[in-house]
Amino acid sequence: MDSILVRGNGPLSGQIPIAGAKNACLALMPATLLSEEPLTLTNAPRLSDIRTMTQLLASLGAEVTALQDGKVLATSCHGEINPVADYDIVRKMRASNLVLGPLLARLGHAVVSLPGGCAIGARPMDIHIDALTALGAEIELKEGYLHATARGGLKGAVHEMRFASVGATENFLMAAVLAKGTSVLKNAAREPEIVDLARCLRAMGAQIEGEGTSDITIQGVDRLHGATHPVVTDRIELGTYMLAPAICGGEVECLGGRIDLVASFCEKLDAAGISVEETARGIKVKRKNGGIRAVDVVTEPFPGFPTDLQAQMMALLCTAEGTSVLEERIFENRFMHAPELARMGARIEVHGGVAKVHGVARLKGARVMATDLRASVSLILAGLAAEGETVVSRVYHLDRGYERVEEKLRAVGAHIERVKGE
Ligand code: UD1
Repeated sequence: MDSILVRGNGPLSGQIPIAGAKNACLALMPATLLSEEPLTLTNAPRLSDIRTMTQLLASLGAEVTALQDGKVLATSCHGEINPVADYDIVRKMRASNLVLGPLLARLGHAVVSLPGGCAIGARPMDIHIDALTALGAEIELKEGYLHATARGGLKGAVHEMRFASVGATENFLMAAVLAKGTSVLKNAAREPEIVDLARCLRAMGAQIEGEGTSDITIQGVDRLHGATHPVVTDRIELGTYMLAPAICGGEVECLGGRIDLVASFCEKLDAAGISVEETARGIKVKRKNGGIRAVDVVTEPFPGFPTDLQAQMMALLCTAEGTSVLEERIFENRFMHAPELARMGARIEVHGGVAKVHGVARLKGARVMATDLRASVSLILAGLAAEGETVVSRVYHLDRGYERVEEKLRAVGAHIERVKGE
């Protein structure tokens, strides 16, 4: 297994290009199941999670061709479709459950394995099931698989979710676009990835209004056609790289970044003493005069502070002046990076969903282990701020969500390299 070696760094300078959003792309790819005509996605990120979705779609009968070194995905689903999403692929990645809505819409039935446990929490499927049931599906759990059937097709309905789940909103949207009549989803998730999916579906001929708000209205149509759609910028990759100059000093411009994608995160950076400025090409970040100040953070659904940036923000706050309180409200077990950061000299107390980070003057390099995708990158950021050498092992988590992380950071002057494992 590969590891990443990081040496404590001086100021960074230069530009980092931000890729298309993994989480948007993972929802856009299954939309190909909704039409016989081709769907082409441009600005796709080159990541192992995208390859897993490619494998899943291929197992269902869709064709996915990676062009331009993987930046363009040409997808098509004109032949016979297999309605069964197998456990062996689904267990690798929870986002596999995003084929449930489109399979049901196109075929009237679907058999999708439950994704199984995940390191950051239980992550059940009840909100997805309730949403699709509202559209007339009957869903039963048999031998670890959800068997969904819509006798006579899906029918438009008004449904309010108990929590604004991102995945359930995406499944509902992809099911409702081909349902008979009008659907309204209340308490819908408002994430930019939902807006991106709605735009793509509209380009395919769907009738959707209200994406980006809590009420989305969908007028079902008989069929969808082909389209070409650019994947929105990855706001989590953006936020992660914005933290690099915040931690090391210097000035970095994140190309393709937009403040509206990370507004709540920028507010916290500002309070922590980091200056953020939108430029013609992206977002420029540098430290204001003085050190990093403690700030309190609560993770919430968009437009609140994203849970996917909590671990990275914690890496910054480890060396802040004072005590920061981080409250995790989306996932019940998402502080696994805290004991690893403690190995580097961070002072963190975790009580349930709340972590208190007492700032220390300096972190020290250590051997640490990545426990999940965002935790692994937080350890790299912490390593950049530490004295000496940090080795992050189990970086396969990292490759799920960050393309060429070591190249992007090296280009702005970071001392980072990948050590190939056997
Ligand atoms: C998506 C993102 C993930 C991000 C998360 C929250 C993708 C591929 N992944 O995940 O990176 O961290 O949004 O912003 O887009 N829940 C239930 N029942 C359900 C569904 C969800 O209880 O049926 C709970 C989950 O356990 C979790 C919370 O709701 O505690 C949020 O989940 P959700 O918004 O569905 O996240 P995902 O779509 O899985």
